[in-house]
Amino acid sequence: MLSEEQVAAYDRDGFVVVPDFLPLRRCNRLKARANELVAAWEPSAAKTVFTTNEQVRESNREFLESGAATWCFFEEEAFGDDGELIQEKALSINKIGHAQHDLDPVFKEIVYDAGLRDVASDLGLTDMLALQSMYIFKQPSIGGEVGCHQDATFLYTDPITVTGFWIAIEDATLENGCLWAEPGGHRGPLRQLFKRNWPDPADADGTVFDELDDTPLPAPPTDVHAPGNTSMVPLEVAAGTLVVLHGLLPHWSGPNRSEFSRHAYSLHCISAAADYPAWNWLQRPVDLPLKPL
Ligand code: FE2
Repeated sequence: MLSEEQVAAYDRDGFVVVPDFLPLRRCNRLKARANELVAAWEPSAAKTVFTTNEQVRESNREFLESGAATWCFFEEEAFGDDGELIQEKALSINKIGHAQHDLDPVFKEIVYDAGLRDVASDLGLTDMLALQSMYIFKQPSIGGEVGCHQDATFLYTDPITVTGFWIAIEDATLENGCLWAEPGGHRGPLRQLFKRNWPDPADADGTVFDELDDTPLPAPPTDVHAPGNTSMVPLEVAAGTLVVLHGLLPHWSGPNRSEFSRHAYSLHCISAAADYPAWNWLQRPVDLPLKPL
């Protein structure tokens, strides 16, 4: 699947861009399925009248349980002061996560049958398990920023093996919040760990950050058209492009203030041989084991 140059780019930069990975008809099929899941999604009645603080707490519990579910998460800016959606539901969802690749036939097809295994294998990643996936909408006008981070903070294994497979379902541009990444940044240290409060089960709906290293993550661009002093570069890519991201690579995406959505599907895999600590936020029940890519 990958050329020698692409394999070399991944080793050097910590990411590789693979154009034309997913045919547009498959992108469109996945988009249609995501839209169907949102149309069928009934947000809990309580959620619309929760205060912000309660919403955050509730979201956290939903988040922690979503490792084994197909859950729709709202954009932070989706609700007005009255607790009601500002725009229609279809334009208010931030993402669908995090186990649809094992629960939904259309998502399954993309993860297990579109060539990701071969790409991983070309990069020397031969025993990947499909841990977590997200269908990301990055909605017009309100699509939220994703702060600069390393994926190994959120999906940790010993040794670090988490690898991101990010597929543009729509064109990603400077205007609609494309990915930015720091070439070579995967050789830097892991800064933080995101953990469930552990081992107290009473705290199981809480999470904490452990600080590991105070090397700063790269600053986001001050303006995507005049990025200023950032070490990150924009990854403007066409629909169907795959970007593979090393788990230590710092990356960021800005808010979407344009009139165009920026749909993407992101899968995170880990090595079957690595240790996956029980304090990771994402835990699968025994009846939904991880499957090889
Ligand atoms: Fe990420």
